[in-house]
Amino acid sequence: MTARSTLAEALHRKRVAVLISGRGSNMAALLEAARDPAFSAEIVLIASNRPDAGGLVTARDAGIALEVVDHTKFGKDRAAFDAALQAVLEKHRIELVCLAGFMRLLTEGFVAQWQERMLNIHPALLPAFKGLDTHRRALEAGAKTHGATVHFVVPEMDAGPIIMQGAVAVQDDDTEATLSARVLAVEHRIYPLALKLVAEGRVRVADGRCLIDGKPVPESPAFFA
Ligand code: GRF
Repeated sequence: MTARSTLAEALHRKRVAVLISGRGSNMAALLEAARDPAFSAEIVLIASNRPDAGGLVTARDAGIALEVVDHTKFGKDRAAFDAALQAVLEKHRIELVCLAGFMRLLTEGFVAQWQERMLNIHPALLPAFKGLDTHRRALEAGAKTHGATVHFVVPEMDAGPIIMQGAVAVQDDDTEATLSARVLAVEHRIYPLALKLVAEGRVRVADGRCLIDGKPVPESPAFFA
């Protein structure tokens, strides 16, 4: 590799698609971070499986390319939906995918195509509380610490190597609403940070675990306490 190609690679901002199904607050956090020209990733596409996703309005206002791949048009054929999604990602020359409240299970074949290039954010400290209603379940379980996780996507839902976590202390008087609001604020901090690390090529997976700059993922930063 020549010095010039190394420099070109360093300056290249990775082309990112954010996939949403709903309000898109994490998408908005990623868009905000990527407005900085020094941010190593550029959000070039917002794709939704629902034509009525609230986040599409935010994306339209931001002037980002939008694509809707409506899953209802594909019936039960998940592979056909995923193929349509893949075609859209290829059309926009996407290099990294961020799932942000994207409520579709993806086929193994699709996931394999994006191995270590597709990130997801989950509102719990994985491997605890996979699936839905994480805040209610954390409260019911009497968890003292809760939070959010950014991880690489693998075929199993809410699994995959952890890139970053952010924790919050659960308060005695927390309700689902108060706890989810605090966790969401953490999500908006850690997702851009995790994307930045991946886009900069600083995250490697070894034996199913992420290494950042060759070291184990650090504890969540103190400002999340
Ligand atoms: C977030 O809590 C995210 O962790 C989960 O779905 C929610 C999406 O919220 N996967 P938003 O659409 O990003 O506001």
